Amino acid sequence: MKTLILYQSFTGNTKKVTERIAETLALEGLTPEVVKVTEKTGIELYDYDLVFLGTPVIELLPAKPVLKFAHSQLSVHGKRGDILPSSPKIPGKYAICYCTYSGPHTGKREAIPAMKYMEQFFEHLRFTVLAEWYIVGELKGNEILSTQGPLGDIRGRPNEKDLSRVGRMVKNILRNI
Ligand SMILES: Cc1cc2nc3c(=O)[nH]c(=O)nc-3n(C[C@H](O)[C@H](O)[C@H](O)COP(=O)(O)O)c2cc1C
Repeated sequence: MKTLILYQSFTGNTKKVTERIAETLALEGLTPEVVKVTEKTGIELYDYDLVFLGTPVIELLPAKPVLKFAHSQLSVHGKRGDILPSSPKIPGKYAICYCTYSGPHTGKREAIPAMKYMEQFFEHLRFTVLAEWYIVGELKGNEILSTQGPLGDIRGRPNEKDLSRVGRMVKNILRNI
């Protein structure tokens, strides 16, 4: 199974999660390609069977480089005729979306638009989205928002417990695919 992990990270939280995903996949015998997304990332997603896409939540949405990447992919695949009415799934093409977020104002709910955007991106490309993972990440450089939001004190997150959970989720996916 050809596996790709695309991610963006500004302060390191999503990178940590990405590394744990990659390590777990490697332990399970896969050799994922790991690519930090920029708007110029030209990648052939259909070359992969399992694609992970990770982003920090920025102002309720995926990070700008991820949005621009998605936009350019939709444009390329649209022109090629890959985006079809009713989006029939392509057998054997799977995606997982993940984000890190701080939820300083309304908790997990403020990460949902970003994840739904990414889910819909993959569904338009006719991948089956197997999971959406929300992982709490400290809002670095802002102690008030990292301690006084609805999620409480999130300094140091994602911590080892969060990352172990990520590892277990990866193993679960591979078992069920
Ligand atoms: C400019 C900015 C805007 C952010 N907007 C949100 C937001 O709307 N909702 C949220 O839950 N977290 C928000 N965050 C927090 C980040 O999503 C969170 O800290 C994330 O783990 C950072 O990931 P990274 O270290 O991989 O860049 C924001 C952070 C920054 C710096």
